[in-house]
Amino acid sequence: MLFLIITIIYCICGQLSANGLSPEQKLRCERIISVFESDTIQIKYTECEDIVDGRGYTCGKFGFTTATGDAYEVVKQYTGKKPVNSLAEYLPELKRLAEEFSNDTTGLVGFPDAWHLSATSDRVFNETQDEVSASMSYNPAMKWADVAHFKSAMGKCALYDCIIQHGNGNDGDGLPAIFNRTVVKEGGVVTDNEGKWIRAFLDMRQDDFKHPHDQINIDHRDKWPEHSERVDAFIDILNAANMDLNGPIHVKTGHHDMIVP
Ligand SMILES: *[C@@H]1O[C@H](CO)[C@@H](O)[C@H](O)[C@H]1NC(C)=O
Ligand SMILES: *[C@@H]1O[C@H](CO)[C@@H](O)[C@H](O)[C@H]1NC(C)=O
Ligand SMILES: *[C@@H]1O[C@H](CO)[C@@H](O)[C@H](O)[C@H]1NC(C)=O
Repeated sequence: MLFLIITIIYCICGQLSANGLSPEQKLRCERIISVFESDTIQIKYTECEDIVDGRGYTCGKFGFTTATGDAYEVVKQYTGKKPVNSLAEYLPELKRLAEEFSNDTTGLVGFPDAWHLSATSDRVFNETQDEVSASMSYNPAMKWADVAHFKSAMGKCALYDCIIQHGNGNDGDGLPAIFNRTVVKEGGVVTDNEGKWIRAFLDMRQDDFKHPHDQINIDHRDKWPEHSERVDAFIDILNAANMDLNGPIHVKTGHHDMIVP
C-alpha cells in the first residue's frame, strides 16, 4: 500500500495540471502569500535584500534567493531575452553560489540595486519572474494538487503557499516530504473528506516548523514561529469553509492584519 502511494507520488510526469486555480483565485492566493512574504497584498518584484536566513540575497516575487539558485535562474532567463542588462555581469558569480549552495554575498556588490533597477524599468524582467515562479512553484503545486485529488481552490492555494516557503526539493522540510508524511498519516490521498486531509497537511506543516529536519532550518528556527502564522491563516480559511477562496478574506494573525479583496 505504502509502496503504491509513494510510486504514485513520484510518478508525477511532466504535464501540467488539468485543473489549476482560476485567474481570480490565483491572484487572491498570491495576495495572501504576499501578506506573509512582504506584508502587503502587492506582489514585490523590485525588492532584493539579505534577510539573514542563510540563503544570501532574497529577491523579487516571493523571494528568489542567491544560494538556492532560483535568483540565478531568473537572471539567466532574463539575459536570454535581453542580453544587455544591468544584472548580466553577475551571472558567473550567481552560478557559482548556486552550485555551492552558498549564502556568500561579497561577490555581489550592487546586485540588489541592479535587481531593483531592472524590475522598475523593464516589464520583461517582471514577466520573467512570473515565468520562473510558475515553473518552480505554481505548476508543481498544481501537480501535487492532482496527486492529492484536491478539488478545492483552498487546498490548491495551501499547496502553492507551502511550496513557496518550503520548496519542492527532496530535503526533509520540502513540500514532497510534508506531503509524504501526510499521506502516511492519512493512509492515502483524499477520498471523500478533502477538508480533513487539508487540515492534516496543515498540521503536518506546523509540526515541521516545530521540528525542522534540515540543519539550515534548525539553525534559523528562531524565525519560524512567525512563519507558522501563515499556516494559521490557512486554517482560518478552512474553518470558515471558504473552499472556493472567495473574497474578501480577512488575514489576521499576530504579525499581520490585512483584507485581501
Ligand atoms: C551564511 O550562513 C551561515 C550559517 O547559516 C551564517 O553563520 C553566516 O553568517 C552567513 N553568512 C552570510 C554572509 O550571510
Ligand atoms: C514591476 O513590478 C513592480 C511591482 O513590484 C512595479 O512597481 C513595476 O512598475 C513593474 N515594472 C514595470 C516595468 O512595469
Ligand atoms: C515517506 O515517509 C515514509 C514514512 O515516514 C518514509 O519511510 C519514507 O522514506 C518517505 N519517503 C520519502 C521519499 O520521503
